[in-house]
Amino acid sequence: MKLFLDTANIDEIRQANEWGLLDGVTTNPSLVAKEMKKGASFKEIVSKILNETPGPVSIEVIASDYDSILKQALKISSLGGNAVVKVPFNTVGLKATKALDEKRIPVNSTLIFSGIQALFAAKAGAKYVSPFVGRLDDIAEDGMALIEQIKTIYTNYNMKTNILVASIRNPLHVLRSMLIGADVVTLPFDVLSKLPSHPKSDEGLSRFLEDWEKAFGSMEFPL
Ligand code: G3P
Repeated sequence: MKLFLDTANIDEIRQANEWGLLDGVTTNPSLVAKEMKKGASFKEIVSKILNETPGPVSIEVIASDYDSILKQALKISSLGGNAVVKVPFNTVGLKATKALDEKRIPVNSTLIFSGIQALFAAKAGAKYVSPFVGRLDDIAEDGMALIEQIKTIYTNYNMKTNILVASIRNPLHVLRSMLIGADVVTLPFDVLSKLPSHPKSDEGLSRFLEDWEKAFGSMEFPL
């Protein structure tokens, strides 16, 4: 399973990359706007992310009509070989997805909230679908049940579109995605930072080091 970071913040991207955990990045208009408020332009932010990410970077269009979606998608795609165009799911988005797939431009079909939408996005040629699990949990629906449904649908019909689990809010969303066999999870940095630690790992390390110090009265390494 691939780990993507859901952010437009370059420091978070660098940190995750240093940990060896960065397979890709996803952004959305809310995340990019937050970084632009600090002073950099859209192009500066996106170009830096594309350069520093060792894998696909999803960048979302901010248009609703077909011609503007296509125009923005071509500009996004020209920024780097690892750019993936994020297109909101609806019938206009489907039409744009089909056209972009015909031009071999990879599309991440976003704002997916049902298995049927996921099947339609795959038929239109999306490389990724982004079902939003946290936002379903927010309205007392089971976000992870949607991932199970999409996995079953794609397996039934041998569909190659990647399931990219989005709107992840906690480590359990990540574990359940792994057990279901999702292709990608995209994580906010605070969720990624929580994943490596385990209290028994910390306790075990402290005990090893204490035992050594007790035995020899120093932590000098004997080689
Ligand atoms: O990038 C899309 C998604 O991950 C947003 O998550 O937490 O705003 O629902 P959230």
